[in-house]
Amino acid sequence: MIKGRVPTGITGLDELISGGFPEDSVNLVSGPAGSAKSLISMQFIYNGVVNHGETGIYLTLEEPRENIIRAMTSYGMDIEKYEKEGKLLLLDMGEVRRRSGSDEEVDVVGFEGLMTMLDNLLKFSGAKRLSIDSVTAIGLHYEDSPGRLRRELFKFASFLREKELTSLMITESIEGTQLTRYGIEQFISDSFIVLGLEDVKGELRRTLTVRKMRFTKHDTTKHPLLITSNGINVSAESKVF
Ligand SMILES: Nc1ncnc2c1ncn2[C@@H]1O[C@H](COP(=O)(O)OP(=O)(O)OP(=O)(O)O)[C@@H](O)[C@H]1O
Ligand SMILES: [Mg+2]
Repeated sequence: MIKGRVPTGITGLDELISGGFPEDSVNLVSGPAGSAKSLISMQFIYNGVVNHGETGIYLTLEEPRENIIRAMTSYGMDIEKYEKEGKLLLLDMGEVRRRSGSDEEVDVVGFEGLMTMLDNLLKFSGAKRLSIDSVTAIGLHYEDSPGRLRRELFKFASFLREKELTSLMITESIEGTQLTRYGIEQFISDSFIVLGLEDVKGELRRTLTVRKMRFTKHDTTKHPLLITSNGINVSAESKVF
C-alpha cells in the first residue's frame, strides 16, 4: 500500500513538508522553553480530530491537563467537547500514575510502562495521531545510562511505527549548545523540526526549521513562526537570516 501524507493543519507548515508528515511516521519537534512545542503538538492532534475525523491522543508528562486545556482554550480549541465525544484523549501521565497507585516517589515513567499503556489505549481508541509532550521527561528514567536510553527510545519508535499511527514527540533543546536534550532523539525519529527563540535587538523572535524528513522533499530554510489567536502561523514565504 502506498503511504500518504498526514496534514498537520498548521498554517504554513504543510507546504514546507510536501503536504504533511509521512503516514505512520515518528516525528520529532525540539525547541527551548516557550518556543510553542506544546502548541504545535496540540494543533496536530486537534486538526486531525476536527478536519479529518481522526481520533487523537495527547499525552502530557510535564504539565497538568488543566494547564493544557486552559492554554488550548485560549486559542479557540474546544478540547472538552471532543473529549466527551471520545475523539480526543488528553492524558496526564502524572494523574494516571497516581490513580494506578504507583509509588509517587517515582516521578518518571519509562518506555516499557508507556508501551503497555499505549497498547491498550490504541486498541480501544483506534487513534491515528499521538503527541507525546515530552520524551525529555521519559528520558529522565534512564539518566544514568545513555546507552540504555538510546536502545529504549529506538524500541519505542519501532513500536509506534508498527501501530499504524502518526506520532509526534517533543523534546527540549538546550539553547546554544544542543538541538535535543539527549543528543540522540533526532537519529531515531523519521523527521526533525527545530523551533527557535532568537533575541533580535532585545525582542524575541520565534522560528521553525525542518531539518530532516525521511521519504520527503522538504524545505530547509529557517522561517519566522508567529503565534496568533488561532495558533501557529509559519511564514512559508519568508526566511530568517
Ligand atoms: N494568545 C497568545 N498569543 C501569542 N503568544 C502566546 C499566546 N498564548 C501563549 N503565547 C506564547 O506561547 C508560549 C507557550 O507556547 P508553548 O506552551 O506551546 O511552548 P513550549 O515550547 O511548550 O513551552 P515549555 O517549554 O514551557 O513547555 C508562551 O510562552 C507565550 O509566550
Ligand atoms: Mg510545553
